[in-house]
Amino acid sequence: TGLITYDPGFVNTGSCCSRVTFINGEEGILRYRGYDIEDLAEKCEFIDVAYLLVHGALPTEDEHRKFSRLLNEHSMIHEDMRHHFSFYPERAHPMAVLSAMVVSLSTFYPELEEGWDEETDITVCRLLSKLRTIAAFSYKKFIGEPIVQPKAGLKYTENFLNMMFNSPVSEFEVDPIIARALNKLLILHADHEQNCSASVVRMVGSAEANLYASISAGICALWGPLHGGANQHVIEMLEYIRSEENGDVSKVLERAKDKSDPFRMMGFGHRVYKAYDPRARVAKRICREVLNHLGHEDPLLDIAVELEQAALEDEYFKERNLYPNVDFYTGLTYRAIGIPTNMFTVMFAIGRIPGWIAQWQEMREDPHSRIGRPRQVYIGPTSDETSPIQM
Ligand code: CMC
Repeated sequence: TGLITYDPGFVNTGSCCSRVTFINGEEGILRYRGYDIEDLAEKCEFIDVAYLLVHGALPTEDEHRKFSRLLNEHSMIHEDMRHHFSFYPERAHPMAVLSAMVVSLSTFYPELEEGWDEETDITVCRLLSKLRTIAAFSYKKFIGEPIVQPKAGLKYTENFLNMMFNSPVSEFEVDPIIARALNKLLILHADHEQNCSASVVRMVGSAEANLYASISAGICALWGPLHGGANQHVIEMLEYIRSEENGDVSKVLERAKDKSDPFRMMGFGHRVYKAYDPRARVAKRICREVLNHLGHEDPLLDIAVELEQAALEDEYFKERNLYPNVDFYTGLTYRAIGIPTNMFTVMFAIGRIPGWIAQWQEMREDPHSRIGRPRQVYIGPTSDETSPIQM
């Protein structure tokens, strides 16, 4: 069978060649298709970054207009699909609903099973646009309010905020500063090379499963607390410090260092970054801007800053190069905007859609791509070690 390399967690395994995203973990650099993440977050709309990831170049004005029009045209979900929401329990986790709804899209748009074609933009816009609608509808279902349909003429993040927070009895108007902050957060999440969920999307797609099925699987991977689910757990950890520890961060810090305790400091550490996560730096800035703008004081921000400072000065964290990652500060912004804690990872998923699509597409187009099928090192019993079967 040849020599098998044992590499748990694929720490040293390059699973593909990619042109999508570059990370330098030692220096804390992240680029999409050659563009620095901070530059993109400052200057672009999320939909332009989505276009960049999928097409390899930023859109021209014409391409941008066409892409926006398609996003608008594909923002509704089929009425039959809308009825699905009625059958989930009120407390259903929105990530479970999201994953189920995304795989359900393949029943409404089966033509994709035929493969990727020149209608790439329609598929991309369908997913980008409908995911946002599904997320907002599931929130409305959760709070028992009538759904708000997408509205033509609103930009991507504005439309999302409107579907989330408008209601027949409110005078809701989208705050452009909040829409812009959300736009930046989505850009920060748009891709991150071969992370757990992207690898899942590629792996499922490598068996030639359709794009919706592959992305639905990616959403499930993202839900895990060691991956995108960390943003929900960070806020729960900060809440715990506030309510149970009277705001004192020291016990949580000690627990995170205790090897006999499975607890980990949520929103800290990263497989690739051994320096400050560049996304966390931008996310921290956005958080302060949004809180200032809303005139909102959140005691959890003070706790987060104190916890970060204490960790950065601590030998355990220094020796292991553990810094805040993207999930450490994003939840505080979502919370200030009014997004419930159990929806934070859904926000991550909305941002990550372009990356998943770009990774899936690259895998499909790569002539060297083969079905993903890792080997193992068998350590179970030999046939000599079993007793005869007596039934
Ligand atoms: N708290 C305490 N110790 C930690 C932490 C943490 N958050 N992260 C890593 N360590 C320790 C770990 O125990 C190990 O110590 P030792 O060398 O003594 O055994 C050392 O640091 C190296 O960690 P590792 O477990 O080998 O690292 P990994 O690459 O396998 O895991 C990680 C990376 C992100 C899963 C991990 O750092 C972690 O669990 N962090 C908390 C969860 C989190 O914030 N996840 C979001 C990741 S970023 C966004 C995303 O991708 O979704």
